[in-house]
Amino acid sequence: MLEPTDIVRYEEGGPKVVLLDQRRLPDEEVELECGTVAELVTAIRELAIRGAPAIGIAAAYGLALAAERGEDLDAAAAALAEARPTAVNLAWALGEMRDDPTPAHARRLHEEEVERCRAMAAHAAELFGPGTRALTHCNAGGLATGGYGSAVGALRAAWERGLLAHVWVDETRPLLQGSRLTAWELEAAGIPHAVIADSAAAALMAGGEVDCVVTGADRIAANGDTANKIGTYSLSVLAAYHRLPLYVIAPTSSVDLATATGAEIPIEERAGAELTSRFPARNPAFDVTPAGLIAAIVTEHGVHRAPYADSLAMLV
Ligand code: MRU
Repeated sequence: MLEPTDIVRYEEGGPKVVLLDQRRLPDEEVELECGTVAELVTAIRELAIRGAPAIGIAAAYGLALAAERGEDLDAAAAALAEARPTAVNLAWALGEMRDDPTPAHARRLHEEEVERCRAMAAHAAELFGPGTRALTHCNAGGLATGGYGSAVGALRAAWERGLLAHVWVDETRPLLQGSRLTAWELEAAGIPHAVIADSAAAALMAGGEVDCVVTGADRIAANGDTANKIGTYSLSVLAAYHRLPLYVIAPTSSVDLATATGAEIPIEERAGAELTSRFPARNPAFDVTPAGLIAAIVTEHGVHRAPYADSLAMLV
């Protein structure tokens, strides 16, 4: 398993933020060094590092970098916060760092985020019955959280307890986080898995080959509506039709009680060139799954059930 510092770390004496370039996985394991906040903002925008908790951690290291280089902290925080709009973890991490923008503080946030993942995984494992065949979307593994993983962390914990039989990995169009990153992490963990086209999920569910859907989150609104990678909403509708539970596994750094419902979550629109170089395209990177289609939300505090307005309010 990747160490948290393999995924993203801060190095003094440059100083710089060093990250495993996720654009080049799984074919090449290459590090990218960001010596300025501007370089880190570009790395986040271009998905060299991605996944809600991981970009929050990178932003925390970025603010420490700005402080050490004597850069304007407000300008640095604004640039990092705007790098990607949907994941609330960016704003959360920058808020946490404001009063103490040091590398030591950023490292502590990183360690705590990985600890939250381990705690969530232990809670989430209680949701799995023996022989579970789970379907996951995008990558909510260690790469996406700075270590261990949220949805993939839950799968790891279920596997270790002998409860998981197989994972269906949505390839996750258009940037293939599932077939490039999640499959790579599951292979390293020795967890049986198979990549499927996103459009194959319905047929597998209809054929009785899926027991549950497990995903991460980029932002969970106060009422439980959850933004995650585009295609998660379709899976939630399919899961409801086939009477399968969809579980969202995410740390409290992804919970945004200041946003009342999913309708207020900003959805990132990415370049159409990620879909086609020839025709006009529309490329929303995330969608919102209504709370009513989520069987449970698991944070480091435990398994939260509907009504989420009540169960999530207790997190503050
Ligand atoms: O565009 P990405 O790759 O950053 O999207 C990531 C996701 O949608 C993940 O599922 C989400 O951030 C949760 S990661 C623990």
